[in-house]
Amino acid sequence: MSQAYSARSRAIEPFHVMALLARANELQAAGHDVIHLEIGEPDFTTAEPIIKAGQAALAAGETRYTAARGLPALREAIAGFYAQRYGVQVDPGRILVTPGGSGALLLASSLLVDPGKHWLLADPGYPCNRHFLRLVEASAQLVPVGPAERYQLTAEHVAQHWNADTVGALVASPANPTGTLLSRDELTGLSVAIKARRGHLVVDEIYHGLTYGCDASSVLEVDNDAFVLNSFSKYFGMTGWRLGWLVAPEAAVPHLERLAQNLYISAPSMAQHAALTCFEPDTLAIFEARRAEFAKRRDYLLPALRELGFAIEVEPEGAFYCMPTSVRLAAMPSVSVGISSRQSTSPLPQGSISAATWPAITCASLIPRACRACSRR
Ligand SMILES: Cc1ncc(COP(=O)(O)O)c(C=O)c1O
Repeated sequence: MSQAYSARSRAIEPFHVMALLARANELQAAGHDVIHLEIGEPDFTTAEPIIKAGQAALAAGETRYTAARGLPALREAIAGFYAQRYGVQVDPGRILVTPGGSGALLLASSLLVDPGKHWLLADPGYPCNRHFLRLVEASAQLVPVGPAERYQLTAEHVAQHWNADTVGALVASPANPTGTLLSRDELTGLSVAIKARRGHLVVDEIYHGLTYGCDASSVLEVDNDAFVLNSFSKYFGMTGWRLGWLVAPEAAVPHLERLAQNLYISAPSMAQHAALTCFEPDTLAIFEARRAEFAKRRDYLLPALRELGFAIEVEPEGAFYCMPTSVRLAAMPSVSVGISSRQSTSPLPQGSISAATWPAITCASLIPRACRACSRR
């Protein structure tokens, strides 16, 4: 008999939304009319200038490994983006280009958490986070959050839940699934509370740019020691290119570089060359036009979801997934619904969802993909 697989790997639950997407695609291929609301992915394909730059990079033979930290030109372009968008000076030497925001989460959790230690995480939250921690023999300390705190971890939560094994907190703004933001003051509060406990603050900013009617503050505006992850997946529309980045304090960079060298060597080189185009004014104009379109869909979707029976207690300011409490999903068989991260302590929803599908039924509306309902407007 073969050796058992590791306890570590057995503890990793599936990222259910991927299975759901596969099933929804299968139904679609079989001719069913499916409205996709399940996965956090813009429905626009990657913007033309990026595709052209990727093709040119391939034609020019840019197919080898890059430095583990990423192309210097791309790190400089990202630093320029912080200056232009947030008025923050970030030394390009503090930026590591990673295979998606997921690569940045892998680096951050590998660097910052010892076995047996915890990070505070808001619940609900992005389901994969706790698994990154499990992989490094650490764990997520889940803090239930609700409408009163706009589903965000607060400085008060830090004070209340920090214990001898807590070494940091991971927050997201805009949050997945709720789309709520952390204001500059709230980020400052978290930063102060965590520094007072000599912990690490990690902020997931991958939905920056997908905020509607407002801009999100970066934690780097208030805390140079925070770790920030971001991605080319969402605002930049490059999910399949697998590219993101991590901004870290200077002292952490050589350690992160060693991890990167060993874990994945470098982020995809073709994608890095293509991403250079993201920061050019013409390409940014495309992203902003798409953002305006997402905002229109959101404005359509919020009242429509309410009509369908979804309680939306806090209006999302950014890309979001919304959580039904008592909706009869069986009445909407052609809507594919994401399953996300609320933990098993949550009550079972009423209605026709079987207990087996809980924990965590999330009707993901996120960056709503174009659907029949929207185009009928
Ligand atoms: C909050 C959050 N963080 C990180 C990721 C990872 O995305 P990627 O690896 O495509 O950058 C996702 C993906 O949906 C997410 O929602």
